Amino acid sequence: MTLTAKSVARAALVSTLVAAAAGAAVLAASPASGAASTLAAAAQQSGRYFGTAVAANKLGDSTYVGILNREFDMVTAENEMKMDATEPNQGQFSYGNADRIVNHARNQGKRVRGHALAWHSQQPGWMQNMSGTALRNAMLNHVTQVASYYRGKIYAWDVVNEAFADGSSGGRRDSNLQRTGNDWIEAAFRAARAADPGAKLCYNDYNTDNWSHAKTQGVYRMVQDFKSRGVPIDCVGFQAHFNSGNPVPSNYHTTLQNFAALGVDVQITELDIEGSGSTQAQQYQGVTQACLAVARCTGITVWGIRDSDSWRASGTPLLFDNNGNKKAAYTSVLNALNGATGTTTPTTTTTTSSSTPNPGGCTATYSEGEKWNDRFNGQVTVSGTDNWIVTVTVSSPQRIIATWNTSATWETANVMTARPNGSGNTFGFTISHGGNWNWPAISCRVA
Ligand code: XIL
Repeated sequence: MTLTAKSVARAALVSTLVAAAAGAAVLAASPASGAASTLAAAAQQSGRYFGTAVAANKLGDSTYVGILNREFDMVTAENEMKMDATEPNQGQFSYGNADRIVNHARNQGKRVRGHALAWHSQQPGWMQNMSGTALRNAMLNHVTQVASYYRGKIYAWDVVNEAFADGSSGGRRDSNLQRTGNDWIEAAFRAARAADPGAKLCYNDYNTDNWSHAKTQGVYRMVQDFKSRGVPIDCVGFQAHFNSGNPVPSNYHTTLQNFAALGVDVQITELDIEGSGSTQAQQYQGVTQACLAVARCTGITVWGIRDSDSWRASGTPLLFDNNGNKKAAYTSVLNALNGATGTTTPTTTTTTSSSTPNPGGCTATYSEGEKWNDRFNGQVTVSGTDNWIVTVTVSSPQRIIATWNTSATWETANVMTARPNGSGNTFGFTISHGGNWNWPAISCRVA
């Protein structure tokens, strides 16, 4: 992408705003003026949604409902659409609590993610004791009945939840459903498609965030296989339950991007991150930015509203405190969403300058390098002159901590000036990111 002088000015303004927003993330309770002021409105700016899990028994809590109605435009029933809730006795379906959630959402103009049609956990007692053909048929009937009942009302169904094993095998989890035959997942997807052709059909799982983990690879191979054989799958859900033992991986963006490249949407479906303060806020910002950087990452759902609503309340993993006040994590997510200007991140970006004396000007092209938990590499290639001066501006709390193939000086802690050091016209650097994955702003002039 080559930017004109005018768009360079706009890009500089945007990156200044993003930098200011990121810097203010932990301090400010309100967004920058002109930016969207709710999670849903901010996500909608790039065509995405921002959702939450909802519990039917909290719909009478006015604080809870106030935040729900104001901030979110997608709803997932936390437990009420699971197999034990919707088919408590075989062949007898019960939709009361699920309907309360679906009706509340739809009356408020919100969409619904369906969760979940087939799962080894939260099965009704009668199903837990079944096996073989009887279980396979009961599962398929459940998928058909529930998806048909909600036909036309569900944006995306988690058709199958958590079917892969943890650890190094990369294979399926053992369960009564798995023991009915390895094709149980595709059979469930086919039944769901037939019952509600308008709903997106997702495979949903946890511990699939780190691209190098065997479980991630196993799910990836299944989706690749489904796409190649025409099994109807439209999306992959990443639960994203993080804590200190299972932190947001540095390659999260890579994972989302690689799944999306298979031709499916990706969604962050049950996000919560244990912790507090700026550490938690930075991790939330990183997850949000990873989604924003993938065109087919269509939305983010957090797994509850206030910390006290969480299934892991002691880890204070959500965006609102027990009193319904916005936490630093809320502000960092809102600001990250407001910083998104489009649905794609180019793999390279270029700024040009027509400054004299070189009439050909100077072009500097940035490309991404390796990424780690705490830092990432970037590389700039200059063309048009061998006599360049390139300014690299990073946004707080980022710091440039190493450079190569250039002679570098610092104007401020955030602004580096790079000149040739006899190694050619490509140089690189390492940025300590502190949770801010924004690219540096690059500008080039002729010396
Ligand atoms: C959890 C609910 O939040 C709890 O209320 C319930 O007791 C157990 O299930 N993965 C999923 C969700 O797909 O359905 C789970 O929800 C959390 C883990």
